[in-house]
Amino acid sequence: MSIQKSNEFFESIYKQSQGDVKQIPWAELKTNSFLEEYLSMHIGEGKAIVIGCGLGEDAFALGEAGFEVTAIDISQTAIAWCQDTYDYTDIDFKVQDIFELPESMLEQYDFIFECRTIQSLPLMYRDKIIRAISSLLKPKGKILAIANGKNEGEKFDGPPWPLARNELRLFENYNCKELEFSIFAEDKGPSKMKFRALYEKE
Ligand SMILES: C[S@@+](CC[C@H](N)C(=O)[O-])C[C@H]1O[C@@H](n2cnc3c(N)ncnc32)[C@H](O)[C@@H]1O
Repeated sequence: MSIQKSNEFFESIYKQSQGDVKQIPWAELKTNSFLEEYLSMHIGEGKAIVIGCGLGEDAFALGEAGFEVTAIDISQTAIAWCQDTYDYTDIDFKVQDIFELPESMLEQYDFIFECRTIQSLPLMYRDKIIRAISSLLKPKGKILAIANGKNEGEKFDGPPWPLARNELRLFENYNCKELEFSIFAEDKGPSKMKFRALYEKE
């Protein structure tokens, strides 16, 4: 799948839903549980960004925790939806392709939340998206990444395409040190396990 087809795929899902959340397969309508756990143990200080923010639930949680929040998504419909839902907040929801980041966004963020966006892109973009996400972080900034996991060599007909642990660790090629890595069993979703990893930019 080309990147253009991938972009159209996401926009069409949001558009065709006509505002019905049940038509968005990944929408949870609540804060991601791994992010919720993280925020219960850390102070929300500085600037945070959500990659592929979808309907904005996680961006909202980061704002409530005290971060100054930017949330990006390729889908205009998703961003318009977020702006409408959270119009009473200061969250900066914007249409932004992760592969077309302006200079002004580079090395600006203290915390990045990435959940299921890496896995949603064709395999040939894996290294490229991890490099792009890393480029947003300030030194000492952290990335909390959540993805469906797979065993090395396992194949999936995506989207989505679950990640092997070594693929997630590509963050280490971009000066992001792995601080934590956990595997959780999962009943739903494309694979039977979920990965949660925390990285810190050196
Ligand atoms: C599987 S959804 C996950 C949404 C949300 N993070 C969640 O966990 O519910 C992937 C999201 O990434 C967005 N996305 C896909 N390609 C993107 C790109 N190149 N730049 C920014 N966002 C993108 C999609 O529009 C979609 O909202």
